[in-house]
Amino acid sequence: MPEYRTHEYDVLVVGAGGAGLRAAIEAAAAGVRVGLVCKSLLGKAHTVMAEGGVAAALANVDERDSWEVHFADTMRGGQYVNNWRMAELHARESPQCVRELEAWGALFDRTKDGRILQRNFGGHRYPRLAHVGDRTGLEMIRTLQDHGIHQGIEVHMECTMVALLKNGQELAGALSYDRERGFFHLFSAPAIVLATGGIGRAYRITSNSWEYTGDGLALAYEAGAELVDMEFVQFHPTGMVWPPSVQGILVTEGVRGEGGILRNKDGRRFMFDEIPENYRAQTADNEEEGWRYTQGDRSARRPPELLTRDHLARCIVREIREGRGSPHGGVFLDISWIRSRLPDAQERIKKKLPSMYHQFKQLADIDITKEPMEVGPTTHYMMGGIRVDAETQMSTVPGLFAAGECAAGLHGANRLGGNSLSDLLVFGKRAGTFAARYARERSASRPAPEPVEAAIRRALKPFDSPTGKSEGPYAIQQELQGMMQDLVGIVRRETEMRRALEGIARLKESAARVRVDGNRQFNPAWHTALDLRHLLIVSEAITRSALERKESRGAHFREDHPKKDPEAGKVNLVVRREGDGSMRIERRPIPEMQPDLKSIIEENN
Ligand code: FUM
Repeated sequence: MPEYRTHEYDVLVVGAGGAGLRAAIEAAAAGVRVGLVCKSLLGKAHTVMAEGGVAAALANVDERDSWEVHFADTMRGGQYVNNWRMAELHARESPQCVRELEAWGALFDRTKDGRILQRNFGGHRYPRLAHVGDRTGLEMIRTLQDHGIHQGIEVHMECTMVALLKNGQELAGALSYDRERGFFHLFSAPAIVLATGGIGRAYRITSNSWEYTGDGLALAYEAGAELVDMEFVQFHPTGMVWPPSVQGILVTEGVRGEGGILRNKDGRRFMFDEIPENYRAQTADNEEEGWRYTQGDRSARRPPELLTRDHLARCIVREIREGRGSPHGGVFLDISWIRSRLPDAQERIKKKLPSMYHQFKQLADIDITKEPMEVGPTTHYMMGGIRVDAETQMSTVPGLFAAGECAAGLHGANRLGGNSLSDLLVFGKRAGTFAARYARERSASRPAPEPVEAAIRRALKPFDSPTGKSEGPYAIQQELQGMMQDLVGIVRRETEMRRALEGIARLKESAARVRVDGNRQFNPAWHTALDLRHLLIVSEAITRSALERKESRGAHFREDHPKKDPEAGKVNLVVRREGDGSMRIERRPIPEMQPDLKSIIEENN
């Protein structure tokens, strides 16, 4: 049995994006020993892909904004299957979390009178996104890193988790391997916070980088935790489509917040064609009004490009399918048109959207101040994930907490842009607080040797698989990504999802026989072989949940059930592992909303 290095903490945080850093800071501030583990480098996280801003009802640009309106917007965006208590906490606490971040050194763009500037984003009634050009997530990560570094947190980089370990029902620790050097780390900790982000790499076209293979969700599921809302995968409407090597890279919603418009190949602004009933009163039906709105005219209604992401993504897919797409299979997103309205348009675009300017110039040889971009939907965010308690962020496994994208509940069927960054601040902080409190009440216990050895044997199995009958990990991963993209994507049908389930079952067998060569020192094939287990679990959970939800709601669109079903809107789908290892989907009624919150929603509709 290979040796492993051991580490002991009170709270172990897995994942060092915004949620993990925020949780680690809070736990350390509570005076407990904190270890922070990240799959790649500290701060290299999907948080930076939330470019356009962090949503918080600061009411700096429009004093009509309040936590109540933010709460109502979040619930409507999530199509009312959200965990309403999480939505309440999030709306109430995010302004304070943003101010706290500012006090720690985050530099936001400013209003003329020196307050934090806020911009428009889809589904938010008022300009609500505090931002730093189009680099908000990056600035947040920088600030959290700078602050966290002084808190005495021990950081383990390039470390991938392969198992959570329990002694009986009690969480006792986790096992990981060191990606560079190949040895194992055993972490003992009574409380673990998972903040591993999303599942984007289960799909072929994604804004997520290689780390996002659903690790936290799969580890929690295997340890007995419940997952929820797994049918709700967010396809951001605007990712790059050309050249092929950059397909899926995010084009921030900030472009539309600053006046960018969508057109098809005939030059038609197609979003005017289909404004959903529940947004009709708030959405402009002519170009002039939409433009006035982006210029701060409070009597104007929002342009249709600021409808919610699920809706935009479906409209874009429709344009492409019906032959009205751009040359490389997308549609056109144009911010350069504002030159006809503003004399300083070029400078303004470069100032407000510096990353987008450079991204398109360097990767596609497009000057976005002069010509339109080609864009199409890209898998961006997982609304579903680990089911947690709203107040504490503890999962159904005592001692196991989750925060950020890998936790579920806040966003329901569809997340509003910018709510991910406020989510990770509010619930990262809560997870850190309650994990520290939980750990303090327990004495340290070390994982027993047998499950540690079993986890190591399982991780090393790909080196011992017989040659001949086995496939390589990349082929399996590629087939899975293609299948999820084509059969469980933006528009879903029962027959296709059944085919996907059969495919997943077949790929599970292949993954069990997967073989890799070489040794354990930096061996990407081995890493991919281990990721496969997680990718297959989350893909199965997405597909089974999507089959079970026989309606269309938010990001989940069933062509064979195109309407919302009021009965289905009363339940969440919970995913659990049965004793025999099979996956079970259970319909769980959504608790009745508190009357005061109900009134807030009615008043804001
Ligand atoms: O479009 C964006 O800037 C992404 C923001 C988000 O996902 O919250």
